[in-house]
Amino acid sequence: MALLNPGSTGTGSSSNSPLVPQSVDALLTSSAIFLVVVVNEDAEAMASARETLAGLSDLVKTVGFRDTAAQLSCTVGIGSRIWHPLTGREAPAELHRFPQISGPTHTAVSTPGDLLFHIRAEREDLCFEFERLLLRDLGSAVTVVDEVSGFRYFDSRDLLGFVDGTANPVGPDLPDATLVSEEDPEFAGGSYVVVQKYLHSLDSWQRLSTEQQEAIIGRTKPDNVELADADSGQKSHKTLATIEDEQGEHDILRDNMPFGRPGNGEFGTYFIGYTRRLWVLERMLERMFLGDPPGLHDRILDFSTAHTGTTFFAPTATLLAGLGDLPDQSAGAAG
Ligand code: HEM
Repeated sequence: MALLNPGSTGTGSSSNSPLVPQSVDALLTSSAIFLVVVVNEDAEAMASARETLAGLSDLVKTVGFRDTAAQLSCTVGIGSRIWHPLTGREAPAELHRFPQISGPTHTAVSTPGDLLFHIRAEREDLCFEFERLLLRDLGSAVTVVDEVSGFRYFDSRDLLGFVDGTANPVGPDLPDATLVSEEDPEFAGGSYVVVQKYLHSLDSWQRLSTEQQEAIIGRTKPDNVELADADSGQKSHKTLATIEDEQGEHDILRDNMPFGRPGNGEFGTYFIGYTRRLWVLERMLERMFLGDPPGLHDRILDFSTAHTGTTFFAPTATLLAGLGDLPDQSAGAAG
């Protein structure tokens, strides 16, 4: 998809070149790697990160061409701490650090991360090879703070056993929900991205009856049919994650993946949400962790603990490619 560039600064791209979003809308694949890194505190590290990001689409081609049917893609998100030193621009309107949300019972923690690489393919080896070469290019410029390999589990189920991703927007609703537009013209075609790594207490979840689990999620387990919203009292996950105002319902795009190591008792869901409006996703988190009405939190959290929480902005591929042209004096310490 190409949008019209509303005028750019600092990247060397001309003002009427088309803006190409990254592959935010890539299909949910059978494998994915979520890689979060922190960029080290020196101008050399920043320059090296910039050069790697500018060459990212070439690296996708290099690895992806070995089996084009496997649809390798990589979306990169940039965090607020390094936005300015890395890009030489003011930050997108809503970009800020993930806000810790402390409810009476559960907390959405806020953890460090400057760059997110969301690597997707139908083959695990392609994801692996891409990550290997990417980290070789980044070298000592970055420190890896989180690395998770996810897999498709049967008919796109999470490890709680429910089909996950059904309510995602499709067709024209997809760019409308995920891509910034005229409200922030300099960053049109980009998308806010939030990640959280959840670990499940699978044993206690499995001690619940199927009916209890379905009431928590808001859908039936075998056939994935939506249950009616509760009018009062405890609401399901589906209801708490639905944000409506006078403009209607605001969707986000989720590409959650299960991951785990049964030998270590590790069973997880890596949550990733892309959104045009960061406030929508933050409102979902508030409703889940603080509850609606307050105190009645999302019961999914009694069986799932968030171990990370980080926010990024995935700019257009056009902006990323232009980073290679950024003059050196734009480099500076992150603040
Ligand atoms: C342990 C972590 C999570 C698990 C296992 C999980 C699982 C699910 C499942 C099974 C559904 C129903 C099917 C579907 O529509 O996809 C769902 C719906 C949804 N979830 Fe989650 N989820 C998790 C965390 C989150 C978080 C952190 C957010 C947002 C901040 C979120 C946002 C949504 C939304 C927007 C829907 C669709 C609601 C609708 O029907 O309109 N989820 N989730």
